Amino acid sequence: MNVGILTGGGDCPGLNAVIRAVVKRGHQFGYEFTGIKEGWRGLLQSNTIKLSKQTVSGLLPMGGTILGTSRTNPLKDPKDAETLFKNIEALKLDAIIAIGGDDTLGVAAKLHAKGIKVVGVPKTIDNDLFGTDFTFGFDTAVSIVTWALDRLHSTTEAHQRVMVVEVMGRHAGWIAVYGGIAGGADVILIPEKPFDVDEVCAVIKKRKEEGKNFSLVVAAEGAYPKEAGGMITKDKSLDSFGHAKLGGIGEFLATEIEKRTSLESRFVVLGHLQRGGTPTAYDRILATRYGIGAIELVHAGNFGRMVALQGNRIVDISLAEATAKLKTVDAEMYRIAHIFFG
Ligand code: F6P
Repeated sequence: MNVGILTGGGDCPGLNAVIRAVVKRGHQFGYEFTGIKEGWRGLLQSNTIKLSKQTVSGLLPMGGTILGTSRTNPLKDPKDAETLFKNIEALKLDAIIAIGGDDTLGVAAKLHAKGIKVVGVPKTIDNDLFGTDFTFGFDTAVSIVTWALDRLHSTTEAHQRVMVVEVMGRHAGWIAVYGGIAGGADVILIPEKPFDVDEVCAVIKKRKEEGKNFSLVVAAEGAYPKEAGGMITKDKSLDSFGHAKLGGIGEFLATEIEKRTSLESRFVVLGHLQRGGTPTAYDRILATRYGIGAIELVHAGNFGRMVALQGNRIVDISLAEATAKLKTVDAEMYRIAHIFFG
């Protein structure tokens, strides 16, 4: 059995740990592995490398992905789709393990519907894949946000400022909510709840009246004020899955807060710091469990499935179900975050 592995979409701490687990467990079944470079693009270009037990040794703590990644949608152009099917045959891939978020796994679901033997592994620091409690990479991102908020607290308090911290989270504010709770944010803004800038300013002014001379606001990059009517984007360009490049909510808010409250404000964009570097112990373990779950699905001939964490058990759900909708922030979690606003 020759199993192809690819990593697609934004990179995420733990990708290499999944690859390692897949190959090490698959080696016990006597399988061969073809690493597909740069996500679905590698299949369009037949850009592959052989993976063995030896090549994946030492990958557990490594950030990034040894396979590289891209946001290529191979089904956008029918000619590409044709090339993809031809190359899967030419490369003699008996099965493919796709490690990715809703875009990468959305492609996997469509390929499965056309007869390709695919298994998915849920990856995204945004934690917005449906059907799994957690995606690997999320815990690392939350730890980095918490680390940043701890440091920003002391400088913000020393200068009696307002600090707006822009974190990742395109359509779902999981990182903002978890990071904000762990780092003691005074306001948390998420894409699921368009906000009113004056209400945010009122919380900050009330804090000041109550003797707190500083405030920390955490905003997911996809959060937006009702008055703007939509997310703040860097430019008009879209990627091959139709996503805009987000960014700017931190600067927008810091400017508005300073204007409306006369309190000195600054902003910090944590950006790709949240995705880089070594995974936390939690993410290494989750990634390892996912990798083993995925190759065992292949071994069982159980295709069109995605491994998922439900409670503390690794289960599998259909790729079609997992990619049909996004998992947005849980109302109970947001209620807890909200208790600490102000
Ligand atoms: O992978 C998800 C994500 O990290 C989003 O939170 C963010 O909007 C996007 O990727 C950034 O993508 P890029 O690395 O292409 O700038």
